[in-house]
Amino acid sequence: MLNLGKLHFGGDYNPEQWPKEVWKQDIELMQKAGVNLVSLGIFSWAKIERRDGEYHFDWLDEAMQLLHEGGISVDMATATASPPAWLVKAHPEVQPVNFDGVRLSHGGRQHYCAASGVYREKAAALVDQIASRYASHPAVVMWHVNNEYGCHAPYCFCENSRQAFIKWLQERYSSLDELNASWGTDFWSQRYYEWDELVVPKRTPDGTHPNPGQQIDFKRFTNDVTLELFKMERDIIKRYDSVHPVTTNFMSMKFTYAMDYWKWAKEMDFVSTDHYLAQHDPQNHIDLAQQADLTRGFANGQQWLLMEHSTSAVNWQPRNYAKTPGQELRNSASFVSRGSQGVMYFQWRQSQAGSERFHSALVPHAGEDTRVYREIAELGAWLKENPEVANHPTDRAQVAMIYDYEQFWALMQANLPTQDLSYAETVAKWYRALWELGIRVDFLPADASKADLSAYKLVLMPMVHMLSEAEEQAYHDYVADGGNLVVSYFSNISDRTLRVKLGGYGGKLVRELAGVYVEEFYPLREGQGELSNGLKPELWSELSRLEGAKAIATFKSSDVDGSPALTVREVGDSKVWYQGTELKLGSQKKFFKDIASTLGIDMEGGDESEVVRRGPYVFTINHAKNKVSLKKS
Ligand code: GLA
Repeated sequence: MLNLGKLHFGGDYNPEQWPKEVWKQDIELMQKAGVNLVSLGIFSWAKIERRDGEYHFDWLDEAMQLLHEGGISVDMATATASPPAWLVKAHPEVQPVNFDGVRLSHGGRQHYCAASGVYREKAAALVDQIASRYASHPAVVMWHVNNEYGCHAPYCFCENSRQAFIKWLQERYSSLDELNASWGTDFWSQRYYEWDELVVPKRTPDGTHPNPGQQIDFKRFTNDVTLELFKMERDIIKRYDSVHPVTTNFMSMKFTYAMDYWKWAKEMDFVSTDHYLAQHDPQNHIDLAQQADLTRGFANGQQWLLMEHSTSAVNWQPRNYAKTPGQELRNSASFVSRGSQGVMYFQWRQSQAGSERFHSALVPHAGEDTRVYREIAELGAWLKENPEVANHPTDRAQVAMIYDYEQFWALMQANLPTQDLSYAETVAKWYRALWELGIRVDFLPADASKADLSAYKLVLMPMVHMLSEAEEQAYHDYVADGGNLVVSYFSNISDRTLRVKLGGYGGKLVRELAGVYVEEFYPLREGQGELSNGLKPELWSELSRLEGAKAIATFKSSDVDGSPALTVREVGDSKVWYQGTELKLGSQKKFFKDIASTLGIDMEGGDESEVVRRGPYVFTINHAKNKVSLKKS
């Protein structure tokens, strides 16, 4: 667990990039800004292990000592995120192979295959050295395993990966017959008769794509094989330090999807995450709020830590806009209101060389007499003055949204009714509609238990494409016990193997619970489609009929005129809404507003301001240029 009674403030510290004279100044500037925690050694493998088995800790010992004397705690990294040149030269097979069969080179970072035995062996040896050396160092307060697993080259298609994939499949399926049945390999002559015939889903001939079941299993495998790396490092650390918590930094961002963080969070002592704004988007504070809420979901509603964000511009977007005055304070307040135990950044001092030299930091190239340093020092002072905030988790919302990586993976595949579906965009649109209405949201995984679901007045299911029978049952039970649901189009279409459920799309969830029988999909043409109640649909319509639900709106000016588009079914005191189309943002807001009013859900703030409660603390943040007065209903 994270320390209570204190909010952390600081960031990645890379002293190896600077001469030692700078280190002393670093400590003074950290103290002046109120920094109390740094993540140390994240990319230091080549500096620590200069040849195979030859370790140099003198410089790190010195940096640790300076930090400790300066009263700054250390989030000790395991340095395994970027294998050194000597390692890849001796063992080129450590480097991952991409979808097209190209082996990726040393020279960037994260150039390792998660299934590589050599990588595991060398990483384990390094972690053993670091953990044994620093486990009882008084500066260490937490451990930072690797860095952003799955960020740059999550999927490796090399022979080692193929072998590991086969082993993983052998554990998942009791027999090849079972695998063949769930992948549907009688289609296109894909049946396997020997385990060793199985391949990783590399590029196939143009116009064809690997088998859907194979693709989704490969994504599951990649998650699991990468998670094994984390567990390996964590267990080594635990051998030397059973006191301080171990984490690894997630990337809770809209389009990062390779790792299933619900699974990862279960293996960690506390959840930490990184978040970077799409600075071209004037509404990016809504994405920030969404990702912070999602991270709190991974943390099961408890406190978590923002491990990285930026003080100002990043260096990897097409145009890297700097933050405007005050924006960083608002961003940080939003993270803290939504459960972060502090505010951390990439990185302490802006690099002079290397590909991140134009990425902002706490100490910019221009030095400390700068807007950025002054603003962060102001924030540091505020965090120091309000340590008790850390003792309270963010208050629970009344609405939960289902978020599930496997749905993301399924909907990324080709050969769907339309290639314009985007899981990330739909979830973001639903979240934004709610944010603008001032409705707070918690996130739950699709396999949430009935007990988890029951904590909420309303549960939203945007494109929950695959559900097992047991999962489906949990939603039926939730409704039977008084819960209310909104289910979107293209939900519960398949079981978890991607085999379609027959007898009306959406299975029992849509046909029985929502009371709508869906026959056929009709993706809308550009500009086509209206709804009878004036709301604006896009992307999707379907031929359907009511089987127990009431229509709120039907399709017009479409190929399925008269088919129900928005419906509600009353089940005892509960209501199940079905949304058989994608709605434009303004219409999505109206639809949710009606639902919230019907159910008496609190709406506070909204438009351009947010109100979030963390125990006795009420955070009110105004993102508009002008003053606003807060609304509550
Ligand atoms: C990620 C990494 C950092 C740094 C930042 C730049 O979050 O973890 O090392 O590269 O991106 O935005």
